[in-house]
Amino acid sequence: MRSSGLLAFAASLATSSAVYQGFNYGATKSDGYTVRAQADFESLFSTAKSLVGASGFTSARLYTMIQGGTTNTPTSAIPAAIAQDTSLLLTLWASGTTFTDELAALKSAISTYGSQLSGKVAGISVGSEDLYRNSPTGIAAGSTIGADPATIVDYISQVRTAIAGTALSSVGVGHVDTWTAWVNGSNDAVISACDWVGVDAYPYFQNTETNGIDQGASLFNEAFDNTKGAVGSKPVWITETGWPVTGKTENLAIPSADNAKTYWDQVGCPNFGVVNTWWYTLEDTDDSATPNPSFGIASAPVQVFHQAAWEDQERTLPRPEVAQAQLPLDLLDQPPPLAQPPSRPMLPTSCLARSLVLWVP
Ligand SMILES: *[C@@H]1O[C@H](CO)[C@@H](O)[C@H](O)[C@H]1NC(C)=O
Repeated sequence: MRSSGLLAFAASLATSSAVYQGFNYGATKSDGYTVRAQADFESLFSTAKSLVGASGFTSARLYTMIQGGTTNTPTSAIPAAIAQDTSLLLTLWASGTTFTDELAALKSAISTYGSQLSGKVAGISVGSEDLYRNSPTGIAAGSTIGADPATIVDYISQVRTAIAGTALSSVGVGHVDTWTAWVNGSNDAVISACDWVGVDAYPYFQNTETNGIDQGASLFNEAFDNTKGAVGSKPVWITETGWPVTGKTENLAIPSADNAKTYWDQVGCPNFGVVNTWWYTLEDTDDSATPNPSFGIASAPVQVFHQAAWEDQERTLPRPEVAQAQLPLDLLDQPPPLAQPPSRPMLPTSCLARSLVLWVP
């Protein structure tokens, strides 16, 4: 029956609040060099929380503990997250020679913010794609310096020592890498050292395969499933995935707002609220004023994205028989439907669960 189905559905939504959901945030603005200050992070975290049609984007994955332009001052994303009630997946950059400074910044953040961080840290990642950058695929793709498995394992143990007995002592320590690194048995020691594993997967970049948007979800699911198979019983989080809104074609993969939306629907929606997910991304953080490809859904082509989302929303507006009374009251604290497309950044609502909740008349 419709009503019992809806209630079961609403119950499953209600239990999903403990799952982290958010975006990735670099230390610099989309131009790739202007350092993000606390106000910049706060503005982004606030935007992420107020997307029309997509609620619950209240977590931020970072790439470094160090504030841009300093040696080892903790990132201003931390006070921004505290102010905006946003949780953090912290990262210590683990390639090159800055790990000692990353560790110092972590210790300094703990002593500066202490208990304000309790319950706010989703995890601590030691590195990001270091194994990938060290692999033949990474080198062929022009990657900069990476790190080998033994180095990551050593750094993980240093982080465990640093957080022991502090406000962050119960936070899980892990590593983020591409799915290709996780299925490589030579990296098994890293899996063993982790509490959780983060996977980055981009069908768009899989340019030696049939990678059009129509294959996007199946390529992602294959990468995710293969990673879970390699990792075994430890949690696997989605730390980066997305489809570019503009930029160059990679084999059959064409960037566009429509394709980014399709990918969001087919890959994001089934995982939001189910698996910890940090989407790539809200706003680009690249080494160019005109990132190519651009993954930032809140930047230039957003109007197109809005339009696609809006049209989709019209199609999925709840039918009259879906009465407000059938949903628990605490799920109805959303703004009423708008008469025209909103001006704020907006995401597609064809995650059906969400459109029912958000757009009940
Ligand atoms: C597998 O991992 C090892 C250790 O990280 C690396 O040296 C090697 O290049 C990787 N192989 C492939 C095919 O990526």
